[in-house]
Amino acid sequence: MSTDRPINLSDYEPMARTRMDPGAWDYYAGGAGDERSLADNRLAWDRLRLRPRVLVDVAQRDLSTTAFGVHLDHPIIVAPMAAHDLAHPDAERATARGAAAAGALLTLSTISSVPLEEVAAVEPAAPRWFQLYTPVDRADTESLVLRAVNAGFSALAVTVDLPLPGNRERDDRNRFVLHMGAHLPADQPTDETGIVVLPTFDWDELLWLRSVCPIPLIAKGILRADDALRAVHAGCDGIWVSNHGGRQLDTAIAGVDALPEVADAVGDRALLVVDGGVRRGIDVLKGLALGADLVAVGQPVLWGLAVDGADGVRHVLEIARDELSLAMALTGCRSVADITPDLIQAP
Ligand code: FNR
Ligand code: LAC
Repeated sequence: MSTDRPINLSDYEPMARTRMDPGAWDYYAGGAGDERSLADNRLAWDRLRLRPRVLVDVAQRDLSTTAFGVHLDHPIIVAPMAAHDLAHPDAERATARGAAAAGALLTLSTISSVPLEEVAAVEPAAPRWFQLYTPVDRADTESLVLRAVNAGFSALAVTVDLPLPGNRERDDRNRFVLHMGAHLPADQPTDETGIVVLPTFDWDELLWLRSVCPIPLIAKGILRADDALRAVHAGCDGIWVSNHGGRQLDTAIAGVDALPEVADAVGDRALLVVDGGVRRGIDVLKGLALGADLVAVGQPVLWGLAVDGADGVRHVLEIARDELSLAMALTGCRSVADITPDLIQAP
């Protein structure tokens, strides 16, 4: 439903679209192939039904949590996304300001349009992680990791589901070319749409990365219990369960559908993040109930950025937070720890 006074995340989508260049919009909005996974990311949350608990005093709800020892006001975080300058001239600076205002941890993409030090300087005290696409050269990778550490990024999310970019047919039709962003060397191999190609990044490279990364390491883009366990054994501190917003392998299962098997296998040996199609605070509650520690929001943050810069980002994240708070009240949860698997109807 479009309106001039957006009251939920989806209201922002059509408003953002009218403000953006059509090719850039399609890059943001599109998925791979027939966009089955893109659509399923929404449907997967909607398939889940809740079993609310009643007669709990929910007058006070505590949404706070921690991630690797860092206090967070709530468990909703910003997923890493390339090229925020396509949405707003203040780009990742505005996203950082808006996320901090809403108390949301920001994950900055390697393909940021603004250098990581500049983004960090916007809100020096705000929680932030850096997402890594590895430069071809190991020395370049190591220096990028250390730049992020020095700029106060407190964990590294290495994306493991992009050996090659997915088949983004919208970008192909539009002849859209993504810019390289602020962190990769100019000679970094890319496909014809400008997206990095990393086909040699394998388990051995992950072990090497672990050996040079002095902060918690998260493997982003895992959809199977066996891969999750292998990543934990390789020294990863976090597993980010995701199909990359439906942008990589079309018909890959939704993150939330993979979450139970990953949570079951990993237990509390790693921090779990889930993303893909999160558009409601109720989705966040479902992700937490199924074992995630944090739930990431992607596209809606870019919609907020396109519509109203930092204020739009803040508003989108505050809506999600307030919806989560209400969903907690209506399921009898006073804290994030109260959000347990029995709240979800068994399949
Ligand atoms: C992404 N995503 C992504 N992931 C990543 O690890 N590095 C990146 O640079 C990007 N870039 C990117 C750009 C755009 C425009 C989108 C929409 C997504 C994937 C992202 O982190 C996340 O997994 C999904 O976006 C989550 O799904 P929703 O919330 O967008 O549906
Ligand atoms: C994308 C890459 C850059 O999904 O992660 O567009």
